[in-house]
Amino acid sequence: MADIKDEIRRRRTFAIISHPDAGKTTLTEKLLLFGGAIHIAGAVKSNKIKKTATSDWMEIEKQRGISVATSVMGFNYGDYKINILDTPGHQDFAEDTYRTLTAVDSVIIVVDVAKGVETQTRKLMEVCRMRNTPVIIFVNKLDREGRDPFEILDELEKELKISVRPLSWPINIGAKFKGVYNIYEGGLDLFTPDKQKATERVEIDDVNDPRIDEAVGETDAAQLREDLELIDGVYPEFNVDEYLAGRVAPVFFGSALNTFGVKELLDCFVKIAPSPRPVDAVERTVNPEEETFSGFVFKIHANMDPNHRSCIAFVKVCSGKFERNAPYQHIRLGKTLRFAAPTAFMAQKKSIVDEAYPGDIVGIPDSGNFKIGDTLTQGENIHYKGLPSFSPEMFMYIENADPMKAKQLDKGVQQLMDEGVAQLFVHQFNGRKIIGTVGQLQFEVIQYRLLHEYGAQCRWEPMSMHKACWIESDDPEAIEAFKKRKYQFMAVDRDGRDVFLADSSYVLSMAQSDFPKIRFHFSSEF
Ligand code: G4P
Repeated sequence: MADIKDEIRRRRTFAIISHPDAGKTTLTEKLLLFGGAIHIAGAVKSNKIKKTATSDWMEIEKQRGISVATSVMGFNYGDYKINILDTPGHQDFAEDTYRTLTAVDSVIIVVDVAKGVETQTRKLMEVCRMRNTPVIIFVNKLDREGRDPFEILDELEKELKISVRPLSWPINIGAKFKGVYNIYEGGLDLFTPDKQKATERVEIDDVNDPRIDEAVGETDAAQLREDLELIDGVYPEFNVDEYLAGRVAPVFFGSALNTFGVKELLDCFVKIAPSPRPVDAVERTVNPEEETFSGFVFKIHANMDPNHRSCIAFVKVCSGKFERNAPYQHIRLGKTLRFAAPTAFMAQKKSIVDEAYPGDIVGIPDSGNFKIGDTLTQGENIHYKGLPSFSPEMFMYIENADPMKAKQLDKGVQQLMDEGVAQLFVHQFNGRKIIGTVGQLQFEVIQYRLLHEYGAQCRWEPMSMHKACWIESDDPEAIEAFKKRKYQFMAVDRDGRDVFLADSSYVLSMAQSDFPKIRFHFSSEF
């Protein structure tokens, strides 16, 4: 029987985050390639390959014209078991993306060397910072013209609000890109602009080794030495503990499309990235090595097959060993449940699993038992926390467009909210229902799913609002005074908590300065 400590030690559960088009999909493919999970052998760019690199579910979603899946890809790399949680990006960016970050132990951020840090990356980094999630940065597309690497490092520090430490360093960029010096392992990796060939490594003793001059020419070798000296002068030596504490992000340079710098990234990642860490429950902190199983639902993927009303609840195993058919306690419902067909993705194949360890994600077929954030245990009454809702920034009133289907609409809306597709508020001033999202596409997704899964029709009525935030205060009178003053802009969330709908950032900052006794929260976890 596998020793649970060894199983935990070899697991790396992480997500790749980036702004659309920075190269997340390409990097994921290449990582899967190294893990032997896919066999590309040739044209990486072909769309066929791209399709096989995504899960079947995502294909189904695409055929339905929407893509909201967060899939999980597991594979072995050497002694390590790697779980990549895919984060939906692009226009389907949604709360799901944020929530996925609550189920990972670390993150790799991909940045386009020409574009630098873009909005989506910045937002996701805020969540990482909130949770002190360790991050490694991969600066991609070095084969294209881009910014000066020192400039990129400064931008990363400033925009992502984290100290950085380069662990590889490029020799030129764009058409003149010759390769990277691997600071972490000490070696020179030569770039061949050829997707078929793997990286050519020149073994060197140190930075003064004449083999560097032979390989890249004297001028570039001199520049490299100068750059490395500057790096050593400016950036403190890399310290793994600082990385694990989320204070320093190591930076690698490469080209995912050319499979260049990817293996080096992966090799460093498996060595330094954390294995599953203790997770906070409301009652206590749970250590992964504890004997009894516990886990939480971080995502629900409903009705993947439109003909079946089933969902898949994604459970992150936090402690102990998860076993198929074992009796587990569903804390919120106070029920004992057994799961006969838990699934996991391994090397791109979805199959039933008999056991899973901390860091693993299991998909549990479900017919309505689960909500986002639900805790499962072997009996202990604990509640995992850390699945906050984030302040939505887009709002619409939702109206029933088919009076005969009011019940279906209600049910559909409730279930979609349970799944975490968006947030529902009730306006205290007019009693109308408001749906708040973080991405525009969610409104289309909701409308589509209400119609196809619940036979209900909704109509949207635009609302111009800037942000919703939760308010609280130690002083009940202050809350009452605030609610009275802002009665036209007050709503409640599904848990009955007070929410202030600010119609502009100006109004919000005025409210914050006018009501010093009120705390304004931008995530529901406070
Ligand atoms: P995303 O998931 O972050 O949105 O990005 P994705 O991997 O789809 O990459 C976006 C585009 O950038 C793709 O081109 C991809 O081939 C290209 N790309 C990724 N890595 C590199 C790199 O290292 N160098 C260069 N030059 N390009 C890179 P596309 O034309 O949009 O798609 P495709 O037709 O190539 O699939």
